Amino acid sequence: MSIDNPNGVQPDYSGLRIPYHVGIVMDGNGRWAQQRGQPRVFGHRAGTDNIRRVLEASINAGIKVLTIYAFSTENWNRPPAEVRALMQLLSRTIRDQLQELHKNGVRIRHSGSLIGISDTLKRQIAEALELTRNNDTITLNVAFNYGGRAEIIDAVQRIIADGLPPEAVTEDMFSHYLYTQELPDPDLIIRTGGEYRLSNFLIWQAAYAEYYATPTYWPDFDETELRYALVAYTERDRRFGKVKVP
Ligand code: FPP
Repeated sequence: MSIDNPNGVQPDYSGLRIPYHVGIVMDGNGRWAQQRGQPRVFGHRAGTDNIRRVLEASINAGIKVLTIYAFSTENWNRPPAEVRALMQLLSRTIRDQLQELHKNGVRIRHSGSLIGISDTLKRQIAEALELTRNNDTITLNVAFNYGGRAEIIDAVQRIIADGLPPEAVTEDMFSHYLYTQELPDPDLIIRTGGEYRLSNFLIWQAAYAEYYATPTYWPDFDETELRYALVAYTERDRRFGKVKVP
């Protein structure tokens, strides 16, 4: 894949610790558009284009799983026209880019609920998952119609429905009931747009993730910005609740 890079120089990732799984809260599309005197949807379009750029950069860096927060269960409360636009963006992205993503070895996954999604979009999502299921260059896990608390409730309901006894409920088995199923927990969560909160994103899975926030609005978050996040991650001391042995 070719990076949209005017100098033709790719950032150097040598010496950096590369997280296996990165989650991104892609915030700031609305403010990015407002700054340009444009409607919010203009920002979502630019934000959607940017997913491709960051996906390519992630492949270059050697990241194996990228989870993007594209639509939260709380986003249904936005104005109907904005909700429609976000649905259309996912639909168009699948329509226009699925074949190229597949050619580039991208495995697409969906984390979230299908409740409230149109039949057409449901079919497109199913097609994208099926076509790309054996790809292994990178997994693009799209958190769409996703809410962390809803995900946990959904898991509990299915465990009860499956008739499992209390002693069968372990952290490991519970993880497999979540939308993320077999995916390893995220190592790094990036949030663009200057806020410092998780907003119901991967709340179970991010228990030990490192967190990186930047004021940069999502449409401006490029490969150089990703590298900054990876430098910060490399400098973190991950102890997972243990003390460091000198
Ligand atoms: C937050 O920006 C962004 C979202 C609501 C979700 C991110 C969505 C995209 C990148 C586009 C959709 C992509 C697909 C594939 C469906 P905001 O509107 O909250 O920005 P603000 O905080 O500046 O208002």
